[in-house]
Amino acid sequence: MSQVPLFASSLEPYHDRLVEAVERVTRSGRYILGPEVAAFEEEFARYIGVGHCVGVANGTDALTIALRAVGVGPGDEVVMPSFTFYATAEAALVLGAEPVYCDVDPETFCVTRDTVEAALTPRTKAIVPVDLFGNVAPGVELRELGVPVVEDAAQAAGAALDGRKAGTLGDAATFSFFPSKNLPGLGDGGAIVTDDGELAERMRILRFHGSKDKVTFTDVGWNSRLDELQAAALRVLLPELDGWVDRRRAVAETYERLGLGEHVALPRATEGARPAYHLYVVRSERELPIGRGYYRTPVHRQPAIGSAAELPGTEEAARTNWALPMGTDLTEEHVRQVVDSVAGS
Ligand SMILES: Cc1ncc(COP(=O)(O)O)c(C=O)c1O
Repeated sequence: MSQVPLFASSLEPYHDRLVEAVERVTRSGRYILGPEVAAFEEEFARYIGVGHCVGVANGTDALTIALRAVGVGPGDEVVMPSFTFYATAEAALVLGAEPVYCDVDPETFCVTRDTVEAALTPRTKAIVPVDLFGNVAPGVELRELGVPVVEDAAQAAGAALDGRKAGTLGDAATFSFFPSKNLPGLGDGGAIVTDDGELAERMRILRFHGSKDKVTFTDVGWNSRLDELQAAALRVLLPELDGWVDRRRAVAETYERLGLGEHVALPRATEGARPAYHLYVVRSERELPIGRGYYRTPVHRQPAIGSAAELPGTEEAARTNWALPMGTDLTEEHVRQVVDSVAGS
């Protein structure tokens, strides 16, 4: 039997509607910052439950622009986990800011209020909790620390914490629509969401070269827009997101029901979280026959960073995490195959 894929989600059922959307854009002749992006921004803001959405070119730019917009600049410290995708740190580094790596809970893979608080200094300009693997970091608690919180929700579209969607927990939140993400585009794409109208306006200016009207340039920004083709595709797929998250959660329940927990430690949600399972990540001291470990070299130990931070929770998470197949298309039979293969190893 062929091996179950790690990312098991297909866009095949949406093919015709995606082609229609692409055709609509190509016939319109509007490719950049037109009606599709405006409509998607409104629809995504409504879905998340915030006042504003700014579409940008990818999730990395989303973080960079959000951090700049909340006031992060050269020499400022930004507290963030090291157990994350490299882009989280890169977003601060390209601004000349200094990431200060805080530890994670090795069971939830997320920062906690205590680990963040321990890393704060008078130079801290922002905190970036990461909703890793579709679990949700405790963003609301972090807002009480008095520093702007930019939630990196790249992996958590459709997740929730205490009844609030991931993306509403900080002063702003960023998403990636990279094709493997919970809400995929047909290429790169990203978005920033916020309830703060002034912040949203700053982000709109920053995504267009530091200009509000494309004539007068009041800042130095980026050329970073979500394009019309991506927005049109995302508008087709956004209404599917909640159903997909339900499917992912059903797959997680099937893993549990079929006894995976007898062989490895099952994913643990942060308190009050309803994870979206971008990835289904268990903990195991040994390599498993299917899937793979993520972020084995955490950001603070990457060659470009080389930080001496001591982060025992991060080291444990990096050593023991193991992603098993997850996706909207996994059947009970697939899950059984994975559980049998883990059990027999
Ligand atoms: C946690 C996290 N942050 C940021 C990003 C960056 O998103 P993108 O690849 O769209 O630039 C990713 C994407 O892989 C991610 O997983």
